[in-house]
Formats: sequence, C-alpha cells, structure tokens
Amino acid sequence: MKTAGILTGGGDAPGLNAVLRAVVRGLAPRGWRVLGIRHGWRGMIAGETEPLHPDQTEEWILRGGTVLSTSRTNPYKKEEDIHRVRENFRALHLDALVALGGEDTLGVAARLSEEGFPVVGVPKTIDNDLSGTDTTFGFDTAVAIATEAVDRLRTTAQSHDRVLVVEVMGRHAGWIALHAGLAGGAHHILVPERPVDLEAVCATVRRRDASNRPFSLIVVAEGAEMAEGAVTQNTEKDAFGHVKLGGIGQRVAQEIERRTGHETRSVVLGHVQRGGSPTAHDRLLATRYGLLAADLVHEGRFGSMAALRQGVFQAVSLKEAVAELKTVDPATLRQAEILFD
Ligand code: F6P
Repeated sequence: MKTAGILTGGGDAPGLNAVLRAVVRGLAPRGWRVLGIRHGWRGMIAGETEPLHPDQTEEWILRGGTVLSTSRTNPYKKEEDIHRVRENFRALHLDALVALGGEDTLGVAARLSEEGFPVVGVPKTIDNDLSGTDTTFGFDTAVAIATEAVDRLRTTAQSHDRVLVVEVMGRHAGWIALHAGLAGGAHHILVPERPVDLEAVCATVRRRDASNRPFSLIVVAEGAEMAEGAVTQNTEKDAFGHVKLGGIGQRVAQEIERRTGHETRSVVLGHVQRGGSPTAHDRLLATRYGLLAADLVHEGRFGSMAALRQGVFQAVSLKEAVAELKTVDPATLRQAEILFD
C-alpha cells in the first residue's frame, strides 16, 4: 500500500475540508493510505501526523476552516527545518505529498519538487492571486460574504446620509475588493493595483451629495496604497516576508471626512471573510481540484498543480503557477470605473 501525505498551509480558506475529502475518497479505493500532516509545513518539520479515512470525511464538504489546522511556517527559512522535512518525507514513507495552499505554501512545494520530492499542489486562497489557474477556492465565499456586508452597509449608510468605507482582505491583489465592490454596487473601489486617488473618491462623494444621493459606499482593498505606501498594522514580517496589512479603510475615511465635510465611517471585515461554510461554487471547485489532485498522485504526475484554465480542469506546472502573482488588470479597472457614480 502506498502512502500520500496531505497538508494545508497559510491562511485558512473555505473549501479546504472539501478538498481533503475529495483527495481521501479519490485515493483510498485505489489502494492509497492518506496521512494528514497537521499545521502545514510545521507538521512536516515536527512529524505531526494523523491518518485520514474516507468514513471520517462525512461532514467535510460543508465544514469551514481546516480539520488539519494550518500555519505560516516556511521550512526553507532555517536549514535545520528543511533538513527535518526531507528526513520526515523518508521516515513517514511518503510516496506523495499533496500541499493545499497559496503562493507561499505552494512555493515551498515547488522547491521540494525541484529537489526531486513527489509533490502535487492544490490552489487555495481567498485572495485569488495565484497565476496558473482561473480561480482559487475560497475566493467565491469571501466575495459572497463581503458583498453581503456591502449590501447591509448600504441600508444603514442611506438611512444616516453617511459615507461608509469597507476594508476587505486580498493582500496585494484587488480581486475581493473589485468583485465585492461591483457585486454590491459600490460607488468607488480602491485596489492595490492603482495608487489611491483620494480626490477622485471625494469627487464621487461630492457628486452624489449634489445630486441628492447623500450617502456613498467605498470598498477598499487592505493592500491599496496611499502616496506614502501600503498601510500596515506593525512593521513585523511573517516567515515569508509579508507585512500585516490593515488600516487603510480608516485612513481613507478620515481623509474623505476632512476634505468633503461629509460624516464618514469605516468598517474592517477582517477574518469574517475566511470563516464558515464554503459557498456551493467553492464546494464544487474544491471537490474537482481534490479529485484531480488524487488522479495526479495516482498517475505519478508530480511537480504539478490542479488547476482550472478557461473552464477546463487540468494539471499545470507548480513552478510556473507560483512564478508570479495574478493581479487585477488595468482594462478591468477602467471598465469598473464607468460605474463609480
Ligand atoms: O492570504 C489570505 C489572507 O486572508 C489575506 O487576505 C490577509 O492579508 C492575510 O491572509 C491575513 O493573514 P492572518 O490571518 O495571518 O492575519
């Protein structure tokens, strides 16, 4: 019997358990034992494992978070850590390892694959910033939650004649802001792909005030940049060199109020965007990715990532998939601007 390890790394995303379920159910009937590695790469360093059986996966299609727990551990940061990962690969008799993650987790997977380890990736992130695939699972759920928040903020903004600034996640990509902003009919959307133009935002607010629409909804991505750069919560960086973004919503709100005199409040959606059950779309996407990953493992197609390209599920090179971030293109932004009114 062959053994496949499986781990979930980085921030959690709705749909992780649906992938785990599909991989376990996809591999078990073909004679594979599946070993869950707990806490992402940290578990590969420590050898923290638990066997996964198909009968355990009953409720996993709808369960949020990850039953395996996760971490932002980068084993390549310390030579002794990556040495332990290599040793544990052998000690645990892994014939394959499936890594569920975004650019960081899959970046580690790609490097291990280049070293010759049998690794398969599955693209997870609410940020949707992974190239190599049309979309990542978790994104649809995050957009649905953010859109619902914008809808709810609309009625209270309207009732109080207020400007409401909603800060959403997405790190250095504006996908969540753009999609939730468009779906929620926001009056202005600010993304990291373009420097924040406060005068343009204030012009929208003033135009609406002057045309008897004295409330506005502004969606801002946490990674959107003011003239002085991104707004961060502190200067600390995580193991992959990322700063903790956050605070841009409040800064933008203060400036709008100062420049227009219109009462303005800000709301940070934060981790609520990542919590809870996946949408039906993410359950399906995660399931299809999981089943494809199981096929890739069984067929020995390592160094690849399960992907969706132009509507077709297929394997792509892990190395290429993590080579660059997928950000919002200028043409889409220009199109969205037509609706800023
Ligand atoms: O990458 C997913 C994500 O939710 C980003 O959108 C956000 O910047 C980051 O993770 C937050 O990370 P943490 O949960 O470690 O604060």
